[in-house]
Amino acid sequence: MDKIDVVAASPLYPPVMEALSATYAVHHLYQARDRATFLAPLKNTVRGIATFSGKVDASLMAALPRLEIVASMSIGLDHIDLEAAKARGIRVTNTPDVLTDDVADLAIGLMIAVARCLMVADRFVREGGWLKGPLPLQSKLGGTTLGVLGMGRIGQAIARRAVAMGMTVVYHNPRPKSDLPYRFYPDLVAMAADVEYLVVACPGGAATRHLVSARVIEALGPKGTVINIARGSVIDQAAMVLALAARKLAGAGLDVFEDEPRVPEALTKLDSVVLTPHVGSATQATRLAMGRLMLDNLAAQFAGKPLLTPAV
Ligand code: 8YV
Repeated sequence: MDKIDVVAASPLYPPVMEALSATYAVHHLYQARDRATFLAPLKNTVRGIATFSGKVDASLMAALPRLEIVASMSIGLDHIDLEAAKARGIRVTNTPDVLTDDVADLAIGLMIAVARCLMVADRFVREGGWLKGPLPLQSKLGGTTLGVLGMGRIGQAIARRAVAMGMTVVYHNPRPKSDLPYRFYPDLVAMAADVEYLVVACPGGAATRHLVSARVIEALGPKGTVINIARGSVIDQAAMVLALAARKLAGAGLDVFEDEPRVPEALTKLDSVVLTPHVGSATQATRLAMGRLMLDNLAAQFAGKPLLTPAV
């Protein structure tokens, strides 16, 4: 039987791409010089798109009229035009749960790295600073309050870890969650004023753009540190950079940025900031699990079975 045609909109973790290619006829859109020329002969055959961070917009969907499913190897869906998919009856799947622990671990890692100056301390040892005297004292995390913005699966995993470290957890979310033991703040500015750490764990996209505004950053103030493992778009990055440079914000641990992979130069100069290149889910085990789930969703769709993790 002929293999089903699938477009890969981004490069994928090699073992995942191998598995995808073993089952489907994969067309590598991200390698195309000219998108229209590349897509034209596929018009009547492609039934699926596999993606990681590659954009799947309305024009791509329109160019593939037999498209049934966009399966993304991510929890975030801000690279996919969900409205266009809905309008065309195209199913969309993502990969929740399997990456929760890794992303929560990184959030906590960034928080510890900022509070305990791990990057500065490492440089201090390597460059011989220790031979001249001790490193200045740092900030204790236990006893402080962590505000979680976005109390979904990842927010809750971060909260559990923070509680284990002796922190108090509070949260802001579109709605309170009655089954959770943490204080809910309906107002983000009020929460920012009351916490030492603010961790961003909500989805990206238009609805949350610049939710962490200049006002929120001001409320967090010189006692506050922001951690972002969600999407760069959620924070007003320019306002955050200004506040950090002027020490009106104590620190930041950032895995995501507004214009990846570009990072404002000012951030790279600040010792109060720890930067990572969008690696929340970037472990071999988790990327394999994400890939497996993406493949299982594609297989379910083409077998006419219920999708495992439908997003639309
Ligand atoms: C991916 C992520 O690495 O799942 C997500 O939404 O942010 C990460 O797991 C990312 O999508 C790649 O850009």
